[in-house]
Amino acid sequence: MLDVAKSCEHSINDDWQYACGKVILFGEHAVVYGVQAIAGAIPKAMRARATLKPSGEQGRRVSIPAWSIDLDLHGSRSADLVNQTFEFICSELAVSNKSFDLLIEPSIPHAAGLGASAAVAVASIKAIAHCFGISIDNPRVNEIAYGCEKLAHGSPSGLDNTLATYGGLMTFQRDEAMQVHFEPIQSQQAIPLLVALSGKKGFTAETVARVRQARDAEPAKYKAIFAEVSALTSRALGYIERGQVSELALLFNENQVCLQDIGVSCVEIDNAIAIAMRAGASGAKLTGSGDGGAVLIYTEQREAVAKALNLEGFKTLMITL
Ligand code: PMV
Repeated sequence: MLDVAKSCEHSINDDWQYACGKVILFGEHAVVYGVQAIAGAIPKAMRARATLKPSGEQGRRVSIPAWSIDLDLHGSRSADLVNQTFEFICSELAVSNKSFDLLIEPSIPHAAGLGASAAVAVASIKAIAHCFGISIDNPRVNEIAYGCEKLAHGSPSGLDNTLATYGGLMTFQRDEAMQVHFEPIQSQQAIPLLVALSGKKGFTAETVARVRQARDAEPAKYKAIFAEVSALTSRALGYIERGQVSELALLFNENQVCLQDIGVSCVEIDNAIAIAMRAGASGAKLTGSGDGGAVLIYTEQREAVAKALNLEGFKTLMITL
């Protein structure tokens, strides 16, 4: 007899199926070297949904149609990263000998710095655990998702998987002893932001590796930049906690200068920022690993700025954290 997942009834509010994308407000890259970052989940507009169907046949099938992925898992030795990732999840959840069809529907663009891979991992872990009746808590979900992120990105900070697991607006830090600290931020005021897609894909593993090389070559320069980012994050936290969210705009601009100095901005990002600023935005920076991906904009005139960007071919999304 086949050992299959039970048929999982679900409705739109089934939390176990979903994991959200995220934006980093302050501290990307610096967070890999122990600096505190501030990041927020994008709860509804950008998330991944995982659905597990009982399989009539022996085997484990994973499909992510939006990313043209459709594969039968075939052992942990495969060189294929997606296969490796899902084999890792199955092995951690002890379901490698089960049969299922896993369908993942992410509404988060791939390689856009918006936490898509972590959201896919977290949604999959939760859905598989739920459908096989495995009891799992958030720390364990986060731990397995961090393992997936390490496979995909080499030496990630763990911020993406933590946001995808817990959601909300938070500070995140992996200190020099590799201990993770994260805490929800109590904001007195909602933070309205505009996200623009640069149109170029940014690959986290590559940019993180490139930054590491550059920092090893010029440690003093990078130490100074990361110290500046750390000071920006502290100031930003104070503004958010006091509800002075419009003050974040200038800090976005300062963080963007740091990111340019780190070497992870690019023409497409600089263009999107220039258009946003000309249209009346007061602050903008790249978000995520950069070298493509998305731009985060603070403006009191979101419609006008979005329109200006759309006219130049940039896709935009309004979010409120
Ligand atoms: O581009 P994303 O969504 O993978 O974010 C990466 C954030 C970095 O700080 C560049 C890397 C990390 O592991 O924190």
